[in-house]
Amino acid sequence: MAKVILTGDRPTGRLHLGHYVGSLRRRVELQESGGFDKIFIMIADAQALTDNADNPEKVRQNIIQVALDYLSAGLNPDKVNIFIQSMVPQLTELTFYYMNLVTVQRLQRNPTVKQEIKLRGFSETDDGSEKKAGTPVGFFCYPISQAADITAFKATTVPVGEDQEPMLEQCREIVRKFNAVYGPTLVEPEILLPENAACLRLPGTDGKAKMSKSLGNCIYLSDSAEEVTRKVKGMFTDPGHLQVSDPGKVEGNTVFTYLDAFCKPEHFERFASCFEGRKSCFVFHNLDEVKAQYRAGGLGDMMLKNFLAAILNDLLEPMRQRRAELEKDLPAVWEILRKGTEVAEEEAAATLKDVRRAMRIDYFDDKELIGK
Ligand code: TRP
Repeated sequence: MAKVILTGDRPTGRLHLGHYVGSLRRRVELQESGGFDKIFIMIADAQALTDNADNPEKVRQNIIQVALDYLSAGLNPDKVNIFIQSMVPQLTELTFYYMNLVTVQRLQRNPTVKQEIKLRGFSETDDGSEKKAGTPVGFFCYPISQAADITAFKATTVPVGEDQEPMLEQCREIVRKFNAVYGPTLVEPEILLPENAACLRLPGTDGKAKMSKSLGNCIYLSDSAEEVTRKVKGMFTDPGHLQVSDPGKVEGNTVFTYLDAFCKPEHFERFASCFEGRKSCFVFHNLDEVKAQYRAGGLGDMMLKNFLAAILNDLLEPMRQRRAELEKDLPAVWEILRKGTEVAEEEAAATLKDVRRAMRIDYFDDKELIGK
């Protein structure tokens, strides 16, 4: 069986470091591994509209931003198909058929849906007023649409962040149900989670559970070096670590979570100067030594933050440069999306043919039915 990747992002804003460690970095590695027959990366504009119906312009403008983030992070259009969800109408069709295989109650149990409904403040009742607007049906059903996204490409592997686990579970259920009712047609996908615990869910710069645009706690891949440094300097650390000499806590300290996610052995030599101060000069060879010193006291937050900012800017600088290059010719980026979408549509159309045949709704090709 062909090994196929499908994954994607909602274009509601530029991509941030949470996207990068949660999924984007992995995608580039998978692309380079050569271990996959096809890779589809989807800009999920239709899904973004499920809770932005009244703000289509935001979604529209962010399509190119996400594409720029992808390409500057290293996705190579010669190796992956980047496409726009709503331009592949088969995905909508498939969603409609899958809707009959999922109950309202099962959707209500989906933990990610539950959490996201709460986060967006959709109320339980809808009295017609703006204040008490319930959950849009399309939003409520987006796990079903996501199952369509994955299965339309017969994806075997879905690299995503941990928050998408319930989506994958629900997708697998739909596949099993479809195959049981209509005969073996669809492929059951596997989730591919980040290996590193810090990458599973990178907190925001304020230490809150997740980077989120609305919380204003994100570092974007397209942020300038000054912005990154400013955001790192404002990061939450250990509130009990008041004086440099005080022992500090590593657990739950956002700067250390980021170091766990981004720090590599080579950084200790390259950025050694970050640990040279007026009063003290530390020489570290690995993160465990840094943590031990922080716990013991004497290592200030500023040194740590300078080190983290140097690491992040080192990672982001080549991306910024590629982005600046790409921005000079946006029509070429749109052309990449157009080509990727063409390939995606072809693939999805082939699956829809199989699906219609399995469901026996391929009437005009059904000789038995037509009698000729
Ligand atoms: N829900 C994903 C996000 O929040 C985007 C997405 C849509 C997706 N369809 C998908 C991810 C299918 C993986 C597979 O960004």
